[in-house]
Amino acid sequence: MFLSNIRKFIFHELRSVEGYIDPPDALVYLSILERQRENDLGGGIAEIGVYFGRSYFLLKKIASPEDRVLGIDLFDIGEMSDGISEQYRSFLENGDRLGLPVNEDLLVVGDSADLSPKDVLSKVGEVRFFSVDGGHMLPNLVADSQLAKETTADHGVIVFDDTFNPAWPEVTVGVADFLRNHDGAFSAFCMTKYKTYVCRREFHDFYRAAILRAPHLRAFDLTETQFLGSDAIRLHNPFGRRILYEFMTRSGMSAISERAYRCH
Ligand SMILES: C[S@@+](CC[C@H](N)C(=O)[O-])C[C@H]1O[C@@H](n2cnc3c(N)ncnc32)[C@H](O)[C@@H]1O
Repeated sequence: MFLSNIRKFIFHELRSVEGYIDPPDALVYLSILERQRENDLGGGIAEIGVYFGRSYFLLKKIASPEDRVLGIDLFDIGEMSDGISEQYRSFLENGDRLGLPVNEDLLVVGDSADLSPKDVLSKVGEVRFFSVDGGHMLPNLVADSQLAKETTADHGVIVFDDTFNPAWPEVTVGVADFLRNHDGAFSAFCMTKYKTYVCRREFHDFYRAAILRAPHLRAFDLTETQFLGSDAIRLHNPFGRRILYEFMTRSGMSAISERAYRCH
């Protein structure tokens, strides 16, 4: 895929989908998935917590056409008609509008806690990138991190959303429990304002280096931090840049807002 194409998607089209992923994390997703592709680290892609599809469509856009992308959500937001919620309907419409039609065979409508590893593996095989962004309470994190652990490939990455967000304190507890309960088998290699990126210990240095060397992340300050025995890279997005980006997008300049994050 052409770089200008994916950057335009991240900085312009993605904003048209209601949801929560912002450009810094979108660029981290891109960097990880590209590095996996360059190293032939294959596998499916999965997300718990699709909402209206903002990060789901980003994953679909970055993935190759033959990649299998699984979406899991309650899809119970808004009025129901003909057995389908408003959320589900507009999610499908977003896919058609963006030229990324949803494969409904790879959607699970329901509670992620009811899924077994076999349910995931039978649809997408072992997962190389698992986004955990569903229910934000401790029992959700316990169930979803377990499902992610049992379905990710050895080289897979698990991304936890809303870590260290005071609005959702139990997410942080869930991620810390997950890391501590597995005797160091998993470690955090990257942390952003909103997300914590985790992999198996054997791949820690590989993914840490992928973040440090990623061409898409040169616009950020990358600093070291420690989290439960691992040296993770913290992606710092300076306040001035965030303000500039918001100003550009809110004043109708979203097509050129990418310049706020240009790598020099
Ligand atoms: C914060 S939103 C996800 C945001 C989305 N990833 C994005 O990029 O915009 C959380 C989603 O998780 C879903 N959800 C909450 N609890 C769930 C559960 N137990 N099982 C599956 N999905 C769940 C909600 O329906 C909602 O759509």
